[in-house]
Amino acid sequence: MRELLALLDDPAFLRERDPDGMLETLLGLPEQCREALEHGARIPLPELPLSPAHVVFAGLGGSAVGGDLARLAAGKARLPVLVSRDYTLPPFVGPESLVVLVSYSGNTEETLSAYAEAGERGAARLAVTSGGRLAELAVEDGVPLVRVPGGLPPRSALGYLFLPVLVLLQRLGVFPGGGGLEEIPEVLASLREELGPGKEAKLNPAKELAARLYGKIPVVFGASGTTEPAALRWKTQFNENAKCPAYWNVFPELNHNEVVGFEAPEELLRALYLVFLRDEADHPRVKARQELTERLLAPRVGGSSRFQGRGRTLLGRVLGLIYLGDFASVYLAFLYGVNPKPVAVIDYLKQELARLGEAV
Ligand code: PA5
Repeated sequence: MRELLALLDDPAFLRERDPDGMLETLLGLPEQCREALEHGARIPLPELPLSPAHVVFAGLGGSAVGGDLARLAAGKARLPVLVSRDYTLPPFVGPESLVVLVSYSGNTEETLSAYAEAGERGAARLAVTSGGRLAELAVEDGVPLVRVPGGLPPRSALGYLFLPVLVLLQRLGVFPGGGGLEEIPEVLASLREELGPGKEAKLNPAKELAARLYGKIPVVFGASGTTEPAALRWKTQFNENAKCPAYWNVFPELNHNEVVGFEAPEELLRALYLVFLRDEADHPRVKARQELTERLLAPRVGGSSRFQGRGRTLLGRVLGLIYLGDFASVYLAFLYGVNPKPVAVIDYLKQELARLGEAV
C-alpha cells in the first residue's frame, strides 16, 4: 500500500503513465463546466415546445450520463424525464415529447436511430454533439443543435454534454426553478485541490482509494434518486479508464437481492471492494439501510469505503462524487500500467458494426 501511494506522489511516474494527458483534461473540468454554463446562457433560444408531456434524453455511454444528471436537476419538475440508451424510443414518445439526442461524436448508431425515430413520431428534437452525422442531420432538418467543443474522449466532456442543455431548458421554462448550477464549478475547483496530482497521497482520498482498489473489483453502491448517476459513472470510469471490471447497484433495490450474494465463499468475496456513496438527501430509511448493509457486508469483502458529497445542491454534491471517482479511476489506471485514454474494444465494436452495414 505504502509503495503504491508513493508511486502516485511521484510526478515522473504520473507523466510516464499518462501519455495522452488524461489528468490534465480532468483537472480542467471546473473550467469546462463554467464554460458550458456560459454557453447555455448565451445560446439563442430555439423553438421548442415549452410544456412537453415529458423529456427523453437519448444517448449511450459517456453521452448518456449527462441525461441522468439532468434528470436529477429536474427532480422538482412535475414532468417525467427519462434516459433512453437504445436504438428505439419508449412507445409513448410522440408529438407531445421533447427528445434530446446526445452523442459526443455524433456518429453513435443507436443515437442516430433514435433521432430518426423521434422525427418519424413527430416529437420535438434537440441535438447535442460536437459534430459527425448528428450535426449534419440536425442542420439539414432544421433541428435545434447545441454544438459542443470536440477533441475529447466523450466521458471527459461531461460538462459540455449536459450543462448547456440544462441551462437552455431552464431558460425555456421546461425545467422549473433554475439557479443552483453556478455552484458546480466552485465545488469541483475546491475538490481539485484535494484530489489532484499535487496533493500528497496520505491527504488525497482519490489516490488513497486507487491504492486500496489495486487488485480488487470495485462494487459501487449509490441510492435511487440521489447518488445513482455517480455510482454508474464510477463503475464506467473504472471500466474505461482503469480497464478493470466494476459493478454498481442502488439502495433500496440492492437490499432485496444483491445482499444475498454476499453469502458466497470467502475467496470470491475477498476480490470485491465495496464503495458506499451517500448523500444528505438520501431517504431516511435508505440511510438506515446503508448503515445496516455496510455493517453486514464490509467484514466479508476485501475492503470498503464510504463517501459523502459536499455542496449546497444535490447536483453539485453528485458531481463532486463523480469527480472523486474520475480521479480514482485514472490513478488506478496508472497503478495498473494502462493508458487511461484509449477504449480500443469500444472502437473495435463500432467499426465491426459499421462493417456489417448501416443501422439507420
Ligand atoms: O466513453 C465512451 O467512449 C463511450 O461510452 C461513448 O460515449 C459511447 O460509445 C457513445 O459515443 P458518443 O458519446 O460519441 O455518442
